[in-house]
Amino acid sequence: MKGFTYLSTALLASLPALAIPTESTLQKKAAPSNVGYLAVTWKTADNSVYFALSDNDDALDFKPINGDKPIVKPTLGTKAVRDTSIIVGQGDNAGKYYILGTDLNIATTSWAASTRTGSRGIFVWESTDLVTWTNERLVTVEDKTAGMAWAPDAFWDASKRKYFVHWAAQLYAEDDTGHTGAPTLNTSMRYAYTSDFKTFTAPKTYVSLGDAPVIDMSLLQDGNALKRFYVTGGGPVEQTSTNGLFGDWTTVDGAIADSDGFEAPYAFWDNVDIHRAYLLCDKVGSGAGIHAWTSSNGHADSFAVDNTHNLAFMRHLSVLSVNQKQFDALSAF
Ligand SMILES: *[C@@H]1O[C@H](CO)[C@@H](O)[C@H](O)[C@H]1NC(C)=O
Repeated sequence: MKGFTYLSTALLASLPALAIPTESTLQKKAAPSNVGYLAVTWKTADNSVYFALSDNDDALDFKPINGDKPIVKPTLGTKAVRDTSIIVGQGDNAGKYYILGTDLNIATTSWAASTRTGSRGIFVWESTDLVTWTNERLVTVEDKTAGMAWAPDAFWDASKRKYFVHWAAQLYAEDDTGHTGAPTLNTSMRYAYTSDFKTFTAPKTYVSLGDAPVIDMSLLQDGNALKRFYVTGGGPVEQTSTNGLFGDWTTVDGAIADSDGFEAPYAFWDNVDIHRAYLLCDKVGSGAGIHAWTSSNGHADSFAVDNTHNLAFMRHLSVLSVNQKQFDALSAF
């Protein structure tokens, strides 16, 4: 959120009520000089990290790069990664990028078993150029009472100068060491803070809905407001807060058209049109894969279905706005 031109209050007051972009509307833009978008994803048939690129002509026109071969293959834990998130380094880590992901090979377990005795670690890789990824690690973020740590993503909390990292987990009683009984917390959003994706604070619960599970959260800055998306019941939910991550959240009714049966909502702003935002969600069950929605009202809600792009070659993903140098380096893969 740096680099905006501030007009003095006196100057603003002297101007007629023109459509002057305010700082908060400018913050909708990913970055005015950026030229494209990197999608960080994986495949049902190969739980490795894959990349796809699009440019400013059409943000949703993602094409696989690297000959549709993996960029990173996990070597730790279950050796299978899902739910990939790309994070921009901030603070002391400016200039770095991180990929986070779920450690789960569903081919060797079951959904029921993996929520009871699954991995409590999240995958982390680092890069400075988006091309070379190093320092693979599996960092345990959850307590022993947790059954898993799914779909990690992170949001830079400027007030703490640390990343708010979140994931979904189910918890069991302290004395139920085998996690065979009923959960003491149904699948909920959990979180911790980190500044380096190596050391994390003790995990806590962020969103819990009692009987109903909560999974797959992502956050989007909207001027001075925040939007959060997560999945409960039959599909994705969008909420908004004007007083921060731990403030008051209001559900935006009817935010996402025809989204029942979709998971993994991930929203991002258009680089050029400050009113335009995209939402990508992963269809679950048969015909799994990414589908898109667009919103053009400047509020990243009222998402309408996009029927013109076939993005189903990707799964639960995240998107990074990239500059020309990064775009060229990624294109050369
Ligand atoms: C978890 O959800 C089930 C219904 O699916 C409910 O019966 C149970 O009470 C819930 N457990 C907790 C700890 O909220």
